[in-house]
Amino acid sequence: MEKELYLAAGCFWGAEHFFKQIQGVTFTEVGFANGNTDNPTYEQVYTDTTGYAETVHLRYNPLQVSLGFLLEMYFKAIDPTSLNQQGEDRGTRYRTGIYYTDADDLPFINFSMAQEAPRHGLPLQVEVQPLRNFYPAEEYHQDYLDNNPTGYCHLPVALFDYARNNSDTATLQKAEKYALAFKQLQALSEGETDTIALMANTAALLHETFRFWWTGYYRVVGDELLLGPFQGPVACMHIPFGRGVCGSAWKENRTLVVPDVEQFPGHIACSAASRSEIVVPVRRNGSIVAVLDIDSQYLSTFDYCDRHWLERIVAQ
Ligand code: SME
Repeated sequence: MEKELYLAAGCFWGAEHFFKQIQGVTFTEVGFANGNTDNPTYEQVYTDTTGYAETVHLRYNPLQVSLGFLLEMYFKAIDPTSLNQQGEDRGTRYRTGIYYTDADDLPFINFSMAQEAPRHGLPLQVEVQPLRNFYPAEEYHQDYLDNNPTGYCHLPVALFDYARNNSDTATLQKAEKYALAFKQLQALSEGETDTIALMANTAALLHETFRFWWTGYYRVVGDELLLGPFQGPVACMHIPFGRGVCGSAWKENRTLVVPDVEQFPGHIACSAASRSEIVVPVRRNGSIVAVLDIDSQYLSTFDYCDRHWLERIVAQ
């Protein structure tokens, strides 16, 4: 499982070197993003008339590093309040930007931006947009600081050490816990065919392991979702198709991860304490028979790591 992201962070020589130090980043390349011409060269981009931003294309393993952690690191490497300038480099090509290729990333990016904004007295100048286009830069720009260790860099060396020495321990620990829970559930459910019994123990084990706020199932009964086995406070019993996060996951036939429930239109607040949520469809013979719903009393508890493991857990 791999995800990707495009980050404009000023001069891409230093930016690429910074991002490639982060544990869980599996690939980097530098190039030009979201501009207006075809096949731009560095020289053309340097004229600052092409609309391109110097950008690092990253791939990462979301079981080792979360999008949230990557963006936290990103904000350490830029001045997010500076428009079209990072260090001494000036021009629209040095603007900062977060360009995504998966629309599901947007709520996480918005969440990180909202967390970052109050740390500065000025508005953030980081643009958040879907990636429109990207052209890799000429070969000599790739891995520039590895190949030219004394080359120009607008970032301090200490920042590279910081990126090397700080891994996303929260995600690494979470992935480890899920791997163990997965094995335990496999053993527990061996030979058991009763759906309710399986749901009951899955909810209990996940709830115990992670101390979530609410962990449980809604079953598809007729044209609605009906409360099933769960752990946590009392909850709404009926959820119509397409309503709330649960009904939307059923309707859209996919897992929904919501970093901030207040930002999800139509979220059903069974409990005012719930602040983030994940809903994973449970399928049998190709159709959805239930959803696994987990709520947290903290913002942005769930990400692709949870999605990956919970989808595996409900598939077994
Ligand atoms: N919040 C859910 C409803 C179920 S409770 O979280 C247990 C939703 O919006 O679908």
